[in-house]
Amino acid sequence: MSFHHSLFRNESVLVPEYIPATTPHRGVQMRELEAYFQGVAERPQNISQNVLLHGPVGSGKTMMAKKLGLTLEKKAATYGNRVKFLHVNCRIDRSLVAILNKGLRSLGHVYPSRGLSFEELLQAMLEELRRDRTHLMVAFDEVDSLVESDPSSLYTITRIREISQDAQVFSSLLISKTLDYVKMVDLSTLSSLQWNAISLDPYSAEQLYDILLSRCQQAFREGSVDDGSIQMAAELASIYGDARYAIELIYRAGKLAEMTDSDKVMPEHVRRAKTSLPPQFRKEELVYLDKHQRVMLMAISGMLQKSDSAFTTIGEVEKNYNALCESMGIAPNHHTQIWNDVNELARKGIIETQLSGKGFRGRTTMIGLSMVSAEQLIEELHKEA
Ligand SMILES: Nc1ncnc2c1ncn2[C@@H]1O[C@H](COP(=O)(O)OP(=O)(O)OP(=O)(O)O)[C@@H](O)[C@H]1O
Ligand SMILES: [Mg+2]
Repeated sequence: MSFHHSLFRNESVLVPEYIPATTPHRGVQMRELEAYFQGVAERPQNISQNVLLHGPVGSGKTMMAKKLGLTLEKKAATYGNRVKFLHVNCRIDRSLVAILNKGLRSLGHVYPSRGLSFEELLQAMLEELRRDRTHLMVAFDEVDSLVESDPSSLYTITRIREISQDAQVFSSLLISKTLDYVKMVDLSTLSSLQWNAISLDPYSAEQLYDILLSRCQQAFREGSVDDGSIQMAAELASIYGDARYAIELIYRAGKLAEMTDSDKVMPEHVRRAKTSLPPQFRKEELVYLDKHQRVMLMAISGMLQKSDSAFTTIGEVEKNYNALCESMGIAPNHHTQIWNDVNELARKGIIETQLSGKGFRGRTTMIGLSMVSAEQLIEELHKEA
C-alpha cells in the first residue's frame, strides 16, 4: 500500500458531521427555511419565528439546520450582530434545563446547574438576552424525544416566544422525523404553534446520485471512483431515501478499495461495503442506553445468536434478562419497566417487536433484530462496555 497514493483527496468531506457547501435537491427547501428567518436576521428585536422541519432518516434535516445557522449569523452580522444560533440534539441534551444551560453558556453566562428552578433559569436567560440585546435561535434537533419524555416542553418552547413581547429574543426550529409528537400535545399548545412546517421527502436514487457525485468530487482524487460505484451506492440507499447511508457506503467502499491496493473504487467494493454496514443501525444509539436497556439487549442478542428462529418471545427475554442481572450482581427491573424498556428499544429501531399469530399459547410479543445481526450487536455492546 505504501507505493500507492491515497484515493482520497479530502476524506473529512465524507464524515457525517461535515457541512457541504453544495446541497443538490435541497435548494428550494433551504431557501424556504432561510426566508422564514429572514425577518429575524434583519430585525431581531421585533420578529421571532418558530418553524417545524421534518423528514425521514438522512433527508438532510440536521445539515439544513446547521447551514441555516451559518447563514443566519452571517446575515445578522450586517445588522449589528444580534443573533446567536445554537443547535442542540435533544437526545443528548435530554431536558429543557440542560438546553437552557447550554444556551446561557453559549451567550457567555454560566449559571449553577443546581439551585435554580426551571422558571428561574428561564427568566435569567430572557433577562440576559434582553440586556445583551441578543436574539437566541435554537434548533431543537430530534425534538420528539424531548416531547416524549416531557410533553409540556413543547408548550414551554412556544411560550418562551410569547412571554417576551416588548422585545423579541427567542426563535426556534423544531426538527423531527415525523410530526407524530405534535399530536401528543394539548390544544392550547397546538394553537400557539405556528404552522410553518417544511417537509422533506426521502431522496430518490437519481437525487442520491447527484448528492454522492458532489461529495465524491471533493472527497476523492479525480478518476478514482468508478461511475458505476456511485450509481450502485445511490441505488442501494434509495430503498431508504437516506443520504447518510449512501455516503457511508461510498466512504467505506473507498476504504476497502484502498486496503486492497485498488486504484479505483469499483462496484464490487460498494457491494462489500454494504455487507459490512447494516443500514440504519446507528451505533451511536447504543451510547444512550441505560444499564438495564443494555442488559436487556445482551439478553435478546445472546438468545437470538443461539437460536435458529428470527424471533424470541418476551417471556424468554425476561427470564434471560433476570438471569443476566443476577450473574452481574444487579437488581433486575420489574415486569412493567421491562416492558417499557422493550418498547423503547423498539421505538429506537434497535429491536423489532410483533404479536405472534394465534396458537402460540394465546398471543405473545415476539422480539427480533431487523437491522443488525445478533453477533454484530454483541460485539458492539462489548466495545461499549
Ligand atoms: N442534499 C444533500 N447534499 C449533500 N449532502 C447531503 C444532502 N442531504 C443530506 N446530505 C448529507 O447526508 C448526511 C445525512 O444528512 P442529515 O444528517 O442532515 O440527515 P437527517 O435528516 O438529520 O437524518 P436523521 O433523521 O437520521 O438525523 C449528512 O452527511 C448530510 O451532509
Ligand atoms: Mg439529524
